Amino acid sequence: MNIEITQLSKTYGRGAKAVRALCEVDLTIGPGMFGLLGPNGAGKTTLMRILAGLVNPTAGKAVAAGHDLATERGKVAVKAILGYLPQELGLYPELSARQFLDYMAILKGLDEGEARRARVGRTLELVGLADVAERKLKGFSGGMKRRVGIAQALLNDPQIMIVDEPTAGLDPEERIRFRNLLVDLASDRIVILSTHIVEDISQTCRDMAILDHGQVRFRGSPAELIARAQGMVWQIQTDNGHKPNNGLVVVSTLQLADGVQYRVVGQDVSGYPGAKPAQPSLEDGYVWLMQGVGDTASAS
Ligand SMILES: Nc1ncnc2c1ncn2[C@@H]1O[C@H](COP(=O)(O)OP(=O)(O)OP(=O)(O)O)[C@@H](O)[C@H]1O
Ligand SMILES: [Mg+2]
Repeated sequence: MNIEITQLSKTYGRGAKAVRALCEVDLTIGPGMFGLLGPNGAGKTTLMRILAGLVNPTAGKAVAAGHDLATERGKVAVKAILGYLPQELGLYPELSARQFLDYMAILKGLDEGEARRARVGRTLELVGLADVAERKLKGFSGGMKRRVGIAQALLNDPQIMIVDEPTAGLDPEERIRFRNLLVDLASDRIVILSTHIVEDISQTCRDMAILDHGQVRFRGSPAELIARAQGMVWQIQTDNGHKPNNGLVVVSTLQLADGVQYRVVGQDVSGYPGAKPAQPSLEDGYVWLMQGVGDTASAS
């Protein structure tokens, strides 16, 4: 099973107000966890909403598990095997987790009472909320709310899960637990995770893409992205407080007793004779790639 996206474009609005959110995107996404990384406004949500059958593309094609999303029949077929956690999911604060999921299950057409209750119960267990199922949602932490969000996406036991920035606003411990839950779910599904947090991807995905201004800037494994920054990452120590510049991007700053140590990404460190090469991380790869994009954009 896979998702085939071909020359997919989406423009919102018309004329002078038109916004090009996606531009000729080509992607093939297979089973497991797929990371979609990109800055604000890159087009991540737009792509996910198209795959969920909620938005029609302006041009191009998306086919999920053999169903063409351009047709009504395809959309219905995909919705039956897809779970979607939107970037902003509204919860009903006065409902308990179980009540909310039961309500969502009814909306999704699981109308046979006994089967629905069993499914809600199984889903609560799957996301680790069985113990707090009778508590009102208004008392839930950010991480617990995200689990409820995943639970509602899992009600139909989908083969494809689309989760839009699910880790935003979580504390580190919740983020890690949540990531692990997604990895578990991805063992027998396609899970597409969008984020602008590089670490979410480096810890979970073997396959990823970077979207920027509606275009795919990178497609491959995190290891390949890291390799792109090989030889471009340096440690520079200064004692005069001058931040490195000339095309170098500072990715971190460490105050030392006798100066400041910078980690920088860039090609030309000739102005810094003491620069020491460093092993790139995924974040360095991302910074290097986006920096390169910035260079070409300003040159053209
Ligand atoms: N309904 C809409 N009408 C008009 N423009 C829109 C609409 N939805 C999104 N856009 C625009 O399309 C572009 C892509 O937006 P999108 O929400 O897909 O990006 P994103 O990568 O999800 O961003 P973020 O990280 O902030 O969630 C942006 O320029 C955005 O302003
Ligand atoms: Mg978004």
